[in-house]
Amino acid sequence: MEKQELSVGQVARRCGVAVSALHFYERKGLIFSSRSAGNQRRYGKDVIRRVSVIKAAQQLGVSLAEIESAFASLPRHKAPNRTHWQALSESWHQALSARIRKLEKLRDSLTGCIGCGCLSMDNCPLYNPDDVLGEQHTGPVMLERDD
Ligand code: FES
Repeated sequence: MEKQELSVGQVARRCGVAVSALHFYERKGLIFSSRSAGNQRRYGKDVIRRVSVIKAAQQLGVSLAEIESAFASLPRHKAPNRTHWQALSESWHQALSARIRKLEKLRDSLTGCIGCGCLSMDNCPLYNPDDVLGEQHTGPVMLERDD
C-alpha cells in the first residue's frame, strides 16, 4: 500500500464510522476509492475530511440528499477546504433555519392538541378534512408549507 492510501478499515477507525457506512457513502458518490492489485478499496487521505463533513452535516440534521447535492460541487478527489466548508455551512444554515421556523410553527399550532387527542374534524389543526390537499399534493403538505 502506498503511503498516502488508506484501507477501508483504516478509514473506518480514523473516522469513527462502520465499514458499511463507507461503502454506502461510496455508492452514493460522496467518497471515492481506487482498487489495489488485490482488488481492495484504497482511499486517499482526503476521504477523512469528506467523511468528517458528512458526519458534521448529519449531526446538523442535513439529509443525505442535501449532502449529495452539496458535494456535487466539490472537487472529486480533493478534501473540502475552508472555502468549500463556508459555502456548504452557509447553505445548510439557511436550510436549518427554514426547518426550525417550520417546526416552531408546527409546535405553536399543536398547542391546543397537547393532551387533547380529539382529532376533531372541525377544530384540530392536525386533521385534513376530506383530504382536500391530497387532491393537489402528496405527503405531509401542512408540514411542508412555508406560509
Ligand atoms: S387533538 Fe384535539 S384539537 Fe388537535
